[in-house]
Amino acid sequence: MAKAKVGVLISGRGSNMAALLYAAKADDCPYEIVLVAANDPDAPGLALAAAEGIATFGQSHKGMKRAAFDAIIDAQLRAADVHYVALAGYMRLLSPEFVSAWEGRMLNIHPSLLPKYKGLDTHQRAIDAGDSHAGCSVHVVTAELDDGPVLAQTPVAILPGDSADTLAARILIAEHQLYARTLADFVTRERQPGWLLNKVRATALALPQADEIVSHGMPCFGIVKGKKFAYFTRDHHGDGIIAVLVKTTAPEEQATLIEADPDRYYRPAYFGNDWIGIRLDLGDTDWEHVAQRLRASWRQVAPKKLLGLMDIADAF
Ligand code: GRF
Repeated sequence: MAKAKVGVLISGRGSNMAALLYAAKADDCPYEIVLVAANDPDAPGLALAAAEGIATFGQSHKGMKRAAFDAIIDAQLRAADVHYVALAGYMRLLSPEFVSAWEGRMLNIHPSLLPKYKGLDTHQRAIDAGDSHAGCSVHVVTAELDDGPVLAQTPVAILPGDSADTLAARILIAEHQLYARTLADFVTRERQPGWLLNKVRATALALPQADEIVSHGMPCFGIVKGKKFAYFTRDHHGDGIIAVLVKTTAPEEQATLIEADPDRYYRPAYFGNDWIGIRLDLGDTDWEHVAQRLRASWRQVAPKKLLGLMDIADAF
C-alpha cells in the first residue's frame, strides 16, 4: 500500500516534526513526510528537515493578510501532493478557508489534556490549578482553536516542584510518541475494520425499519423481523477481505459487475447469484456508491408498504 503523503507546518524548533520524520523512516510506517513548511524562514526545524532530505518551504507571514498567506501555504502543500497536514508547533491562527480546505485531513498536537487549557501557557495553568496530571492531545483541526475531536491523549504526572519548563520537557517526550502513533493510525483508519463497519452501519441503519444483528459471525443489516439486505464481512473463512455484501438488482448484474471491476467486486461464497461483494479495503472506496448499493439492496427486500413510504420520501 502506498504511503500517505504528509505535510508538516511548524514555526520554530520543530521537535514534533522531527519525531514524525524519524518515525516515518521505519519501513512499515504508513506515512511519509513530503514537505515541511514554516511561517518563519529561519525556523530551526526547517534546517533539520532539509538536512534529512525533506523538501522545505519558509516564508514570513508578516505584512500579509491571513487568508492570502494561507493560500500560499495551501499551494505549496498541493504542489507537494500532500494528503494530510500535521500542525506541529505552528503558531498561526488559520483562516476558515484553509481549515475547510483540509477538513478531516489536518491534525494538531496540543500540550494539555483537552478540553482543558486550550491556547497558550498550558503547563503553568495545569500547575496553578493543582492538577495531578497534565499531558498532551492530538486532535483533528476545526475552525475553533484547539477544539476539534480528540483522537488520542497521554497523561503526564505533575511532580512536586515542577516548573512550567520542567513539566513541558517531560510532556514533550510524550508528545513525540503520541503524535507519530496517532498520525499513523489516522492515515490508515479507512482501512481499519472498525472504521469501515461504522461507515456501513451509519448508512444501513439510516434506512427505514433497518436493524443490525449478527448472522454467520458477521454484522448483518436487515428489515426489522424481515429479510437481510447487507452483511459486513471481515476475513470471513480466512479470505483476508473486508467487504460489504449486498443484493443485486438484476439477474446478470453479479457477472457484469465482476467483469467490469474484478478487483472490487466478487461473488460471495455460499450466497448464490443474487448477492455481490464490494471490497472496502482497497483504499479508494466511493462511499456514495456504497450508499446507493445499500439503498438498492434494501429496496430488493423491503415489503411493499415500506417501499411506498420510501418512494414518497424520495420524491421530496
Ligand atoms: C509543542 O509543545 C506542541 O505541543 C505545541 O507547540 C510545541 C511545539 O514544539 N503545539 P516543537 O516545535 O514541536 O518542538
